Amino acid sequence: MAEKREFRAIKGMRDILPPDSALWNWFEESAREVFETYGFRDIRLPILEQTELFARSIGADTDVVGKEMYTFADRPYGVDDSSGRYLVEQRGVLPFDLLTLRPEATASVVRAYIEHGPHNWPGSAKLYYMGPMFRHERPQKGRYRQFYQIGAEVLGQSDAPGIDAEAIEMLLVFFKRVRLKNIKLQLNSIGCKDCRSKYVELLREELLKVKEQLGADSQRRIETNPLRVLDSKVPHEQPIIETLPRISDHLCAACREHFAALKVELKLRGVEYEENWRLVRGLDYYTRTTFEVTASGLGSQNAVCGGGRYDGLVELLGGPPTKGIGFAIGSDRAILSIQEAGDLPDLPGLAVFVAWMGPKAYVPAIQITRKLREAGLAVELPADEMKFKKSLGLADKLGAKYALILGEDEVASGTFTLKRLKDADQKKMNENDLLEYLESERRGSRA
Ligand code: HAM
Repeated sequence: MAEKREFRAIKGMRDILPPDSALWNWFEESAREVFETYGFRDIRLPILEQTELFARSIGADTDVVGKEMYTFADRPYGVDDSSGRYLVEQRGVLPFDLLTLRPEATASVVRAYIEHGPHNWPGSAKLYYMGPMFRHERPQKGRYRQFYQIGAEVLGQSDAPGIDAEAIEMLLVFFKRVRLKNIKLQLNSIGCKDCRSKYVELLREELLKVKEQLGADSQRRIETNPLRVLDSKVPHEQPIIETLPRISDHLCAACREHFAALKVELKLRGVEYEENWRLVRGLDYYTRTTFEVTASGLGSQNAVCGGGRYDGLVELLGGPPTKGIGFAIGSDRAILSIQEAGDLPDLPGLAVFVAWMGPKAYVPAIQITRKLREAGLAVELPADEMKFKKSLGLADKLGAKYALILGEDEVASGTFTLKRLKDADQKKMNENDLLEYLESERRGSRA
């Protein structure tokens, strides 16, 4: 006999069970509704992509690509790889593709945009997506190895600041709709490839002067990616970082103008923001606008959304010159914050539990259940006969609004007894009245 084993979800990956899953569905449905009013349309993407796609777009020196990707060989488990080893040793080539579970989806959207022909998108492509992402991080509250994002991207010829502002406005409208509390929008511009590279050189020079006072991570970043030093949370580095040159003083005229116009556009739309010159983001593809939104109740992992402009990315991945901007919401964190604040929506649950008893009640119970479900009501019909007391107890535990009682009396008279569980109020009705009553109830609770 096989040894008994207990299986558990992998570290950093979790099950989302009811009733939480209903909150998740509501959250995602609300995003679809809001995003579609802004003219965005759904794009469904593969969860696996070639590793190289992420390495190129996110950047080889980032934490995501350097440490956190789930990457493996594209071949079925158990295939003998002795010939593969020969190819690697003799010719330095891999006999298989390297695949990665997507750590984010902007790279995939850009790949799809190029693959299906940029000229096929009328105007700008305005796309949204939702689904799981994978990063091999150290799990903690609000940080998982499988987490969920809802993202939106705009790709096209225009880089008008109104596009950035509208994406941010849409994001905040959505956050308001799902009752996210104490949200703060932080905003920055990190310039274009010309002005940023000059700034990065200046930053590197200044960082070299204070190198000895910095921790090991920041010292390494002086060489690999000096901008990331600005992101450091190490306490003793904070006063040193405050003295460093700021990108806002080194933007070229076009980037300065873009940033100023974006701020005007945000004011026009009533969007409040805080400027944060240290907001550089952890992915390499950004140009100009970067932003993050934080919310309450999350501790250190309080960023519920990150985004920005990535004007060079389409070209970097082999497409024509194209502008791009977008964001991704961390659903796990946003939902956690909504739950912690406690202002939860009233989501429709089970409407009717059919409490039938006696063999003659079973057939009418099946028939009425079918009709109620056709009218859009959520109905539970127990397959096993139960005593009324047990039936009503279960109806209560399942959170049903009503119990529909069908016993010998009801069957004999062709009626139904509808019992409202919260106050035990009950009425006897015929089928037409019952359907009419429950349907108007359902419409009322949706309104
Ligand atoms: P990101 O800042 O890496 O940006 O991720 C966006 C959001 O995903 C974060 O603010 C956070 O809420 C959530 N998130 C990230 N990692 C985890 C994790 N391990 N556990 C839970 N939540 C997490 C991007 O991914 C970019 N693709 C955003 C973007 C779209 N930029 C332009 N377009």
